[in-house]
Amino acid sequence: MLTTTKIPRVIGHRGAKGFAPENTITSFRKAKEIGANWVEFDVKETEDGVLIIMHDDDLDRTTNGSGKLISKKWEAIKNLDAGSWFSSEFKNEKIPTFDQTISVLGQLNLGANVEIKPCPSRETRTAIAIANEIKNKWPKNLPKPIVSSFSMESLLAAKKIEPNLIIGALFEKLPPDWKKIAKEVKAQTIHLDHEIVTKELIMEIQGEGYPILTYTVNDQTRANYLFELGVSAVFTDYPWKE
Ligand code: G3P
Ligand code: MG
Repeated sequence: MLTTTKIPRVIGHRGAKGFAPENTITSFRKAKEIGANWVEFDVKETEDGVLIIMHDDDLDRTTNGSGKLISKKWEAIKNLDAGSWFSSEFKNEKIPTFDQTISVLGQLNLGANVEIKPCPSRETRTAIAIANEIKNKWPKNLPKPIVSSFSMESLLAAKKIEPNLIIGALFEKLPPDWKKIAKEVKAQTIHLDHEIVTKELIMEIQGEGYPILTYTVNDQTRANYLFELGVSAVFTDYPWKE
């Protein structure tokens, strides 16, 4: 195996997306409460360089704001309601910063897969900022995070800043030249949509020494089948205790 961090089989997707508004502190706390040892979340950057936890390029779906995040300053979005869209019980939820999230993870003893999710054209800038923050602030009590991205440009930039990062290459569809790409970005894990994995594909990837992590697996029977085939971990909106 190429990775040096111990990856749990069940990783909460965007925290515990099925139970709480995704990518919020409450979502991370919920994942921990129901037994997850790791969570996955998406990191983006405001116009003025504040790293925040959010999936979409637009504010509209998961907050009461609107428009493109790339053109918003932190001051303009820090008080948005990031919970009511999910349920009125979460109306006080705010968009977390990466800094705040890291500190909560440390307190909760909750490991993480940090996904670099840059706004278009911010692939390098956002990755550098994330790598620096991990380098300087990742809690000592936590296992080393996996830093993944669909953007190979981001992965290259992050690894350059912090060569010790554990890199996960994310693919929606595995490209024919995946081995070359994985080597180029110095990936130690491969992350795939569970709907495209086959026994043959798993054997091919494992044969090269890469643990495989698949998203988004919300059915435990399906997860067990994937584990039997050799998948190392699943990202799930409904994490469970193992
Ligand atoms: O990191 C796994 C998964 O989160 C990738 O897809 O769109 O949910 O960030 P997405
Ligand atoms: Mg993600």
